[in-house]
Amino acid sequence: MHAGGLDNLVQLDRDHPGFRDATYRRRRDDIALIALGYRSGEPVPEAPYTPDEHGVWATVQQLLAPLHEAHAHSALIELGLALSMPATRIPQLSELNPALTEATGFRMEPVAGLVEARTFLEHLGRGIFLSTQYIRHHSRPLYTPEPDVVHELVGHAASLLHPGVAELSLLFGRLAARASATELPRLVSLYWYTVEFGLVREQGRIKGFGAGVLSSIGELRRAVGLDPGASIRELDVEAASALPYDPTDYQPRLYVASSLSGLLEGVSAWLDEGGWTD
Ligand SMILES: [Fe+2]
Repeated sequence: MHAGGLDNLVQLDRDHPGFRDATYRRRRDDIALIALGYRSGEPVPEAPYTPDEHGVWATVQQLLAPLHEAHAHSALIELGLALSMPATRIPQLSELNPALTEATGFRMEPVAGLVEARTFLEHLGRGIFLSTQYIRHHSRPLYTPEPDVVHELVGHAASLLHPGVAELSLLFGRLAARASATELPRLVSLYWYTVEFGLVREQGRIKGFGAGVLSSIGELRRAVGLDPGASIRELDVEAASALPYDPTDYQPRLYVASSLSGLLEGVSAWLDEGGWTD
């Protein structure tokens, strides 16, 4: 037993890079306990990170920064600069929240791990982004089979400063709260292929926009054609809403919108018009 009194609170798959690492699993449990003890609206408690965990963050940041410079949409680069996240240590959610709240009213609250899609989206509808705090295993700094703090902060935080992204997130969330069991998967897939994995054109070039693209070196390289493997189509909201996805592997299909505003306007118009309803 460790300090939290619960062994293996966090379940990892056998093929998870940290499956056989008892120290990592204890860290995952300890960080999960912070979220499990948290009540919405309270000040967000700090996750006490180890030097090794800060090191994983620094490694990923070092590799991602030049890729972002070249291949992320310029609006997100600018918003990322405004957040001024440290390069060599994992920032706390509580450090970022004042800027998010001031810009768009959003805040990040801790969550122990993956939550149900409806729960995640419903929180978005109330201006709350549920964020994990743990970091991926040090043996595979470029890979995580599940959202970690790199994904949440490098992928999502800057975009939540963008009024259009915040507005769209609120809309997804409000609709998810009342979606039927057959309607919900359409909202979830569309969210996946736009906010999570969307690409946008900027001055004729494909740029990364979605959090899953911006937080993954492999996904970003594939998305902009540096590596092969992604089939990229023009954004078709109806088709994206009907396409299932596998969150554990590279995305074989990505959609590119004509522009950032084109993505935001096209998706919200389709949602407003009820394209997702039965
Ligand atoms: Fe995400």
